[in-house]
Amino acid sequence: MFVNSLRNRDLLSIADLSVEELRSLIDLSFKLKELYYNGLKYLNILNGKIVALIFEKHSTRTRISLQVAIEQIGGRSLYLSSQELQLARGEPIKDTARVLDRYVDGVAARVYSHKSLLELAEYAKIPVINALSDFEHPLQALADVMTILEFKKDMKKVKVAFVGDGRDNVAHSLMLAVTMLGGSIYIATPVGYEPDARLYNIAKEYAEKSGGYIAIVRDPVEAVKDADVIYTDVWVSMGQETERDKRIKDLKEYQVNKELVAYAKNDYIFMHCLPAHRGEEVTEDVIESPNSVVWQQAENRLHTAKAAIASILR
Ligand code: CP
Ligand code: NVA
Repeated sequence: MFVNSLRNRDLLSIADLSVEELRSLIDLSFKLKELYYNGLKYLNILNGKIVALIFEKHSTRTRISLQVAIEQIGGRSLYLSSQELQLARGEPIKDTARVLDRYVDGVAARVYSHKSLLELAEYAKIPVINALSDFEHPLQALADVMTILEFKKDMKKVKVAFVGDGRDNVAHSLMLAVTMLGGSIYIATPVGYEPDARLYNIAKEYAEKSGGYIAIVRDPVEAVKDADVIYTDVWVSMGQETERDKRIKDLKEYQVNKELVAYAKNDYIFMHCLPAHRGEEVTEDVIESPNSVVWQQAENRLHTAKAAIASILR
C-alpha cells in the first residue's frame, strides 16, 4: 500500500520522484481518502514519530493539512515558526539541521529560498520535505494532480492551461507533475515570467517520454482554448511584495475571468492553490462558479499529505 522506495527520502521537488513513485503516491492518496470517508480517519502508521514543521512564511493549508495528516496517521508534529528559533538570530541552517536530526524523525520546511532547503537536506540525515520554497511546491502538486484525476480520469487526455506567473513555485511543480503523467500543459505568461529553464527542460523530457506536451505561450486565449483545466496562482507570491506594482501591471492581461474561461471546454475545472486574490489573478464569478473545484483541491492536500508522510516516515 505504501510507496516503499520513498522511505527516509527527502521530497524537495516533484523531480525527486520517479513516474512510478508519483503514480503510487496518488493511488495511495485515493485509498486514504476512501478510508477517511469510510470512517477510518485515524490510523496508526507512524507509531508516535515526531515531525518538525519549520515555517518562515505564513500558511493555512500546508501547515494545517500537515499537522492534521501527521496526527491522523499516528504521529506528532511540532510547529516551529522560524522567528522563534535561533535561526532568526543567525544560527546557521546547517547547525539547526544537525540538532533537529537528534530530536525528531523528519522535518518539513517552508522557506524563502530553495537553497535553505538544500542546505537543510544536506546536513540532516532525517527526511526533509519541501512545504513550499520560492522555487517549488511539491505537496501542492500532489493534490493538484489527484484533483485533476478525480474529475478528468485520464491525464493523457487532459489539457491544462496555467495562466499567470510562469515562474511561480506552484506552476513549476504542476508542470513537472502533469508532464510526468502524460498530460499537456500550456503556460500563458508574459515575457520575463517564463518558468525556470532547467525545470522547463525536465518537464519537456517528461513530456517526450510520457506522450504529454508543454508549451509557453503569450496569449492566454491560446492556452485556455479547449482546456480541461484552468489553473492560476497569485501574481505576487510571498517574498515578492516589493515587486507588487510591477507584477500587477505586467500580469494584468492574464486574469482568469468570464471572458477568458468561455474559450475552455464547457466542463472545464477551475483550480487555484489558494489563497486567491479576487480581482487580481481571478474574478469572484469564476472562483465561485460551478466549474471551480478549489475546495475539493484544498481538501486533497490532507489526503496527499498523508500519503507522502506515511510513505516517507513509516
Ligand atoms: N496552497 C497553500 O500552500 O496554501 P497555504 O499557503 O495556506 O499553506
Ligand atoms: N505562489 C504562492 C503560493 C502560495 C501557496 C506563494 O508562494 O506565495
